[in-house]
This record gives sequence, structure tokens and C-alpha cells, in this order.
Amino acid sequence: MVLQRLLERVEKTGELDRAGDPLQRGVRATLPRRLKDLLHGVGLGHPLHPVAVQLPVGAWMSTAVLDALPGTERAATILVGVGTAAALPAAAAGVTDWSEQSREQRRVGLVHAGANMIALGFYAGSFAARLSGNHRLGRTLAYTGLAAAGLGAYVGGHLSFRQAAAVNQAEPYLRQIDDGWHDVYGWDELTENRPEVARIGEVPVLITRVGDKVTVMMERCAHQTGPLGDGEITEIGGAACVVCPWHGSTFRLADGAVVRGPSANDQPLLRSRVVDGRVQAALP
Ligand code: FES
Repeated sequence: MVLQRLLERVEKTGELDRAGDPLQRGVRATLPRRLKDLLHGVGLGHPLHPVAVQLPVGAWMSTAVLDALPGTERAATILVGVGTAAALPAAAAGVTDWSEQSREQRRVGLVHAGANMIALGFYAGSFAARLSGNHRLGRTLAYTGLAAAGLGAYVGGHLSFRQAAAVNQAEPYLRQIDDGWHDVYGWDELTENRPEVARIGEVPVLITRVGDKVTVMMERCAHQTGPLGDGEITEIGGAACVVCPWHGSTFRLADGAVVRGPSANDQPLLRSRVVDGRVQAALP
């Protein structure tokens, strides 16, 4: 609870922006778009960062077990080296996601990254100590690094589960839609590849006519609930797509697939059909 309260204060600590804002601008300006998409996890189905951290965390946790056993110095050294090397791409994916998060999330993200950078420093030191034959020092540094990584993991949990960073933020809207078919729009009122916004109850949806088919997708962006109804329509790879006006996530209108980040999640679609000239939609 103490840690949670501290993190809630961090969310409101504007002084962190003095370091965070220039870093965010730097990350956004430096990385080419294709690399950013790769690091966000576009095409993977969800963000890359939580997948990429499995290797360093697994290696470092295994090191902690081996360090408690006799005669395991060589294996522990290899694991520390593997974990330390694997932490670099995991960090790159995390920083790329961080650069497109809300201000409050970025403040907490700085603490998350700081704890993990400290952990990485301890593990790099541990690796160097082990290579030079000082396994006692290597073990001490590794256990200290594990404590820092544990703190980083706790803060990462706050980011993911309390602040909903990098989750599909369009999904909760699905749960506000009742079962059954809902009348949403007139088929004849739709123009090819020009989406219209309608509501099912209180939930906004985006309706698009693509050829003789119709798609109905959630209108609030999977990344951070930006209004796709205000987004530009563009063509990528021969397919019409909608570009979120907030951070540029781009979704194919025909199936909701994300084709450009920062969202790594597809935009949820509803089932749709046309009955007596009216478009109807239902939960998938
Ligand atoms: S809200 Fe961030 S890209 Fe849509």
C-alpha cells in the first residue's frame, strides 16, 4: 500500500516531466517508423515489451537459484550474461511504448525504467566480476540487481494494471454492449470507405462500407481511446485505413487490423449484417 501511494504521487509529480519530455521528444524523433512498429509489437497481436522481458527475468531468476547452490559458477555466469544482453532489446521496446503514453503513465514509466536500469547496472557489474573470477562479488551484485528488478516489476504492474498502459483500451467498451443484434445505420447512407459514427447505447462505433461488405468497429482507439471518428482515411497496401488523430495508430477498415503503431492491438470489430437496408451489429 505504501508503494502504491508513492506511485500515485509519482503520477502527479510534474517535475519528472523536465526529464521525461525531452526524452520523449528524442525517442519519437530518432526512431524510424518501421523500427518503432517492430518495437511496439505491431503484427504480434499485443505489445512486444512484456514478451521481451521474459528472457532477462527468467535468466536472472534462474541465476538467483543457481547462486544458492554449490558448483554452479559457470552456469550462473552464462545466465547473467544472457539476461544482461537480453535486457537491452526489452528496454528498447519499453522505451518505445513509453514515448506514446499519457503524461501520468510516462512519469511512472520513468521510475519503472530507472529501477530496471539500476538492475541492469548491477547485473553488468556481476557479469564482469564473475568473468574476473570474483564469484562472491558477482553473487552479491546479482542479488542486489534482483531486488531492483523486483521493484521495477512492481512499478511495471502499476503501469499495466492500475494505469492500463498498453492494454487494448477499446475492449471495455465491448462489455457495455448488450447481446443481440442492434440497428446502427442505413446502408444507403454509407459511402464507400468513408466511415460514419453511430452509437449502440452509449458506445460509439465506426461503420464502414467496403465494397458490398460493411464493418462495424469500436470507435475509441485501442491505444488510448482516441476518437477514430475524427481520424483521417488513408490507403496502405491497397487497403483503406483509419488513422487515429491522437498518436497515429492506423487500423485497416476491412478487418480492424493494426498496420501502424503505437497500438499493438487490433481494433475490435463487431459482427455485422444488412437487413432490410439497415446495418445491424452484434457482439463478436
Ligand atoms: S489513442 Fe493513441 S493512437 Fe489512438
